Amino acid sequence: MNILAIETSCDETAISIISTSNIDHQSPNFKVLSDVVISQIDIHKEYGGVFPALAKREHAKNLVPLLEQSLKNADLYIKSTETLENKNEFEHILEREPELYNHFIELLENIKKPSIDMIMVTHGPGLAPALWVGVNFAKALARIWNIPVLPVNHMEGHIASILLKENYLKQEDALLNIQDFKFPILSLLISGGHTQLVLVRDWGDYEIIGETIDDAVGEAFDKVARMLGMDYPGGPKVSKAALNGKENESINLPRPMINSGDYRFSFSGLKTATRYLIDDLKKEKTLDKQNTSDISREFEHAVTEVLIKKTQKAIEEFDVKGLIIAGGVSANIFIAESFRSLCSEYDIPLYLPEKKLCGDNALMIATAGFINYWKNNNIAISEVKHITAVGNLKL
Ligand code: KG4
Ligand code: ZN
Repeated sequence: MNILAIETSCDETAISIISTSNIDHQSPNFKVLSDVVISQIDIHKEYGGVFPALAKREHAKNLVPLLEQSLKNADLYIKSTETLENKNEFEHILEREPELYNHFIELLENIKKPSIDMIMVTHGPGLAPALWVGVNFAKALARIWNIPVLPVNHMEGHIASILLKENYLKQEDALLNIQDFKFPILSLLISGGHTQLVLVRDWGDYEIIGETIDDAVGEAFDKVARMLGMDYPGGPKVSKAALNGKENESINLPRPMINSGDYRFSFSGLKTATRYLIDDLKKEKTLDKQNTSDISREFEHAVTEVLIKKTQKAIEEFDVKGLIIAGGVSANIFIAESFRSLCSEYDIPLYLPEKKLCGDNALMIATAGFINYWKNNNIAISEVKHITAVGNLKL
């Protein structure tokens, strides 16, 4: 079975194609035939964050060339002149995506129906206009190729991203053995849009035990970066500056809600405290390179301490057998190393995604969808016309 997965929830347009094996057995697996991502970062930089209408337009522009590239990578691109019979149907599906429509027709009329058996698409959470482009694109393809669509939760994708082996692109079996995992596993999801502690009782069985009441960790990183004059997305820049940071008596930031005794997070106050600190230094004209590094370091420490404290509490309370850290911020080396120490203290495995899979991608969507499809015994797939994008979709 060949599966095509699509991801457009935020500022990355991504398509992946996998070829499954052993789907009827205890240890299902797949080979990655193609995995491509187009990042819109340079376009959103000017705005200091992701601008939804722009993201939608860029996805519409990128999807067709990305599909063509993906089919070529997977050796599924075969030229021919097909007459598209059910044109009105998908014309209707794509009526809100005029920018996509013409390129779509052009490509589809020039290729033979590829050997793709199912489509998986992120239908939330994320920016609604961005999600809709991917969902409508998936629905139109499904109509033309007469194949089913499985909607996938983006956060479940981040969790599933840890299941890919090192060097997954070169492996016949790209997936780790999913029977090797012992549950419950705790999952800390840290991205630009989310900060959640999720109890994973089994693949596909999740409970959010706590989340942020205001900003997400990645969002706080991005905002602090902006205050320090760094480009979007600021997370990687703050963590790079932090490497040169030193302990500095006059630079202290709060650890919000660290002793709240529950699993809620709050990063908005930390962001404001950082702003005051920066404003004071600017007034004194002492915001130099060293101070910038010191603030970055202190900010990273503050965030990490809060994340560690809450995670540690959950490890104990739920007697977890492993810890997953996923989402864009899991690329942060200081955070990852701090969790590595925590896990060795508790003698539990730490599961981190490959660096390339920390940010948004379609392979994680294919993986999450694949596991669900396998676990639920080839779940009955909802009718294509009923699939919708849900911006605030919950796990
Ligand atoms: O998961 P992701 O790619 O997109 C969302 O679904 O949000 O996460 C992007 C977020 C951004 O806020 C970015 O600044 C942050 O992940 N990020 C980092 C690092 N790399 C990416 N934050 C801190 N340190 C990093 N090294
Ligand atoms: Zn994400």
